[in-house]
Amino acid sequence: MQHSLNCDNIPLGKLFFLRLENAFLLADTGDTIEILSRFDNLESELISYCRLKGESFVHKTALKGCFAYLLRKDSIQNFMTFSPELALAPREIGLAPHGVVAQKASPDYHFALNHKDELWSKNVSKMYEDAKAAQWNATSAIEWSAIPDFAPKVEFAIAQIMTYLIENELSALYIPAKFLAQISPYFLPIPMLLSSIIGDEARHIEAFTKRANATHLGVQYSTLTTQQSLFSLFKESNYLAASFLLHIMGEGTFIDLLKFLEDCAPDLPTKKLFNLARKDEARHVAYGMNNVKMALLSNPHRIEILKDSVLRRKVYLDEVSGESTLLLESLAVFAGGGDSAIEIARGFEMVENLKAKMEANRTKRLVECGIDEELAFELSKAHTPNFM
Ligand SMILES: [Fe+2]
Ligand SMILES: [Fe+2]
Repeated sequence: MQHSLNCDNIPLGKLFFLRLENAFLLADTGDTIEILSRFDNLESELISYCRLKGESFVHKTALKGCFAYLLRKDSIQNFMTFSPELALAPREIGLAPHGVVAQKASPDYHFALNHKDELWSKNVSKMYEDAKAAQWNATSAIEWSAIPDFAPKVEFAIAQIMTYLIENELSALYIPAKFLAQISPYFLPIPMLLSSIIGDEARHIEAFTKRANATHLGVQYSTLTTQQSLFSLFKESNYLAASFLLHIMGEGTFIDLLKFLEDCAPDLPTKKLFNLARKDEARHVAYGMNNVKMALLSNPHRIEILKDSVLRRKVYLDEVSGESTLLLESLAVFAGGGDSAIEIARGFEMVENLKAKMEANRTKRLVECGIDEELAFELSKAHTPNFM
């Protein structure tokens, strides 16, 4: 291929050589570069330049009103392109996006997550678009001043539930963040989607903190049961297993919890808050389910990784903790509307029903991911009593 470089009356100097440098940089080995110039005395300088750079000076021709200097690129090609549909991200892409033409010897980031199979989800671009369209502002979307005061026991229950929710939201923020920088940008839609998830979780943390503050109590107790459950989730180092535990098992269960809280909430702003958070969570669950479903379809043996992650976590949690009693009592007071014997007993029964519903819905989600019913039932049952 021949490239043409019209230098007209540009003298030999910084600009001239910058353009020549770039012409050689982008040319393929064997391509020729024709420089058109008004000057007829460039030959010896160009010969030296080509010798220095490992290129060739071919010839000089006098044309009408100008001179053509023909050079040839002999050095190796500087750039590489990547096939758009690779299952394994190319290491040479460095930190550049999919579709890029990368200069050879770009730094190798050693991205640990470079298999499409373990990251991808269908509709990932649509999910990202949906996430953008569904953004809400925790300061202005909720009418904070319209939240009434409740009986002290109910206020405490709300503050305690918020504390628990914030801790879980922190975990949902830190886990994708932990993996994000390990994902090759060859699969750019995934880091972009995870960024939107992280943004959602930050908003949930903000909103639940604001609701805790609206009780005039602020955040309350962080219990060991919640801490240990979330720690066991954070420790999971396999991306697919973490996606499964967080997005499907954890956030899936959270959708049921947020619906329950929305239904039981005694005031409209709080109902709206749970509703908005739940809609965000539904997108996170959808990503996890699509991700796991595709990964299992391409390699059904991956179920062993998922199964192992759930059961290992159960063994750990069985040893160290049980149900979060503070949370369960707070949920019962919240659902029952108070702490009188009748109210709390009614609330407690509602919470028991919620737990059964969570387990059944979890099983359903697992089956939807392609897990056989018996195993889905077993895994759902083995899920942490902390809900996430
Ligand atoms: Fe969240
Ligand atoms: Fe989430």
